[in-house]
Amino acid sequence: MGKKILCMGSINIDLVMYMERMPKPGETVVTDNFATFPGGKGGNQAAAAAALGGEAAFFTKLGDDGFSRELTDALKDRKVDMSHVVYLPGETAGVAMIRVDGNGQNAISFTNGANGKLTPEDIRKHQEVFGKYDILLITMEIPADTVYEAIRTAKAKGLTVILDPAPAPEGGIPSEIAKMTDYVKPNETEAEGLSGIRVETMEDAKRCMERLRKIGFQTPIITLGDKGALAWNGEDTYAVEGMQVDPVDSTAAGDIFLGAFAASLADGKGLLDCLEFAKTAAALSTTRKGAQSSIPTVEEVRKYL
Ligand code: RIB
Repeated sequence: MGKKILCMGSINIDLVMYMERMPKPGETVVTDNFATFPGGKGGNQAAAAAALGGEAAFFTKLGDDGFSRELTDALKDRKVDMSHVVYLPGETAGVAMIRVDGNGQNAISFTNGANGKLTPEDIRKHQEVFGKYDILLITMEIPADTVYEAIRTAKAKGLTVILDPAPAPEGGIPSEIAKMTDYVKPNETEAEGLSGIRVETMEDAKRCMERLRKIGFQTPIITLGDKGALAWNGEDTYAVEGMQVDPVDSTAAGDIFLGAFAASLADGKGLLDCLEFAKTAAALSTTRKGAQSSIPTVEEVRKYL
């Protein structure tokens, strides 16, 4: 039996408009291509972990609005255990407004709703929840102090910690927290935010990983879009090449990468296998619209490995 994954981070409803090109400041671009999807970086990671073979649960706060119910049902349908979620009367779920252009690139703005109400005190109050799991998979879009308290609690209880620093907090992540983080997975932009090093080439990515290790992160993994991903655990470097696909929507590709990575790690796989599995799942997800709706099946991923 695999290890059990506790997921934390945002759960949002995504309001998505597809358009040939993004509007410039002050410009209106008209499209008749609109859809809503269950999303949120945390929700997407949990859905991907569960869909791709992991046993996943979620700990967060949601509201009592229609979106919160829809998002709960979507994750329950994926067999994510939602029994630790605290529902707040009168609150709404987070909402993300997403534009996707003709190349599948997205731009996201987000309002956090009940996601923003999860406090460090909630973590202390529910700390027994952490003891039931082996891996904490956590992302931002919830208060940074709450993320840090969750990481401290997870480490104290012996969990493996996987952090998605998205969006990267201004001023970076405290070294005390970095040292408790087993795996950190920034994309190029977040890697620059955390390290101050602009990542344009593989060499930049290697220098950036060195800097991240100096801050304290044990195994940095930098995702490089269609160029693949690179990881370094202080001894060995692991590189996986990008997979060539025709993207229609890159929303949640990073989340699906991490959900797949956590599922593979929970299954006892080595780092290189985890990266290959994660990269393939993420690439396949970009060929479909939406966030959780774009997660491939285990069989689809295996076909490409
Ligand atoms: O990473 C993609 C996610 O970011 C979207 O689903 C949106 O909700 C935002 O949280």
